[in-house]
Amino acid sequence: MIPRPFAEIASVGAAVPPRAVTNAELSRTLDTSDEWIVERTGIRERHVATAAQSVAMLAAEASRDAMDRAAIRAADIDAIVLGTASPDRLLPSTACDLQALLGAHNAAAFDVSAACPGYLYALTIAEGLIASGQSRTVLVVGAEKLSTITDWEDRSTAILFGDGAGASVVRRSTRAGRGILSTFIKSDGRLAELLYRPGGGSADPISERVVCSRNHYMKMAGREVFKAAVRTMAEACDEAIRRAGVRPDEIDLLVPHQANIRIIEATAKHAGMPLSKVMINVERYGNTSSASIPLALDQAVTDGRLRSGSLVLLVAFGAGFTWGSAVVRW
Ligand code: COA
Repeated sequence: MIPRPFAEIASVGAAVPPRAVTNAELSRTLDTSDEWIVERTGIRERHVATAAQSVAMLAAEASRDAMDRAAIRAADIDAIVLGTASPDRLLPSTACDLQALLGAHNAAAFDVSAACPGYLYALTIAEGLIASGQSRTVLVVGAEKLSTITDWEDRSTAILFGDGAGASVVRRSTRAGRGILSTFIKSDGRLAELLYRPGGGSADPISERVVCSRNHYMKMAGREVFKAAVRTMAEACDEAIRRAGVRPDEIDLLVPHQANIRIIEATAKHAGMPLSKVMINVERYGNTSSASIPLALDQAVTDGRLRSGSLVLLVAFGAGFTWGSAVVRW
């Protein structure tokens, strides 16, 4: 076995639909307020795609950004691994639609259904494809149009979610010590019904009854999800750090899933990271599920908070439940 790191994140790119929906706008149709939402979640606005903007289109915009930055062509991509909880169609995968949009004709393309840690699951798969010699260059994407699976009449969920996409080019490590030092992924399917879409799949196919009962939208037990998120993100931080063989105080930047400022603060506290070392943009985008970590990474690079040699800890939690983490030398 060749020693880690096998693979590096060569670049990141992002795409967010232009339209921002503020808390004030939501409180015109829902019994809520900007004050309540900011205090409980830290979210001030989220971006919402138009009917014409598909998940694949958002993913393509983010991917082209990442490909330009890594100076690779579509033909160089051996695999596209796309995390999403809101695929454009149930068949085929959104990754295949993305492949067609990019003209990445040499790639294998498939989706990963792991909810909010979808990008970290996809990154883990990409690392494995590279380590096994299957692929040299993998496009790892997290892309969502959660606005289409959100019940805009349910104030307990409608305030939380947003649309967007993030992508990265992952390739064989080009510099000694640079790349993915550890990954950790885990799930607990016993807790599935705390955050799920009851209808619309094969168990209860789409029907008038499903639509009238609004069962094709996300349902969530907020408090239970909150507690599980704090517990599992703490475990995931510890495990990625242990597997990477680094000390917690060596981490330069924590990039957590942007679900809720209080979950982020609890995770940072557990990891012993001051908030000055934590990437936070939940106030602008809300929870964009699998797009959340690559969107935050993209901003961290743009803001100069992530430079060559930085040690970064990524951590996420989501429906399933699923959780995951990674330590990466940038
Ligand atoms: N505006 C105003 N009041 C609201 C509200 C809203 N948008 N949503 C819920 N409430 C009300 C509830 O009806 C309840 O009222 P009651 O006391 O009269 O019954 C009260 O606020 C408290 O509700 P509760 O659900 O206990 O609030 P909370 O402090 O747990 O906050 C969440 C709710 C959703 C913000 C919080 O549970 C949370 O963030 N959970 C995690 C969600 C998440 O991150 N999911 C994705 C994971 S990847």
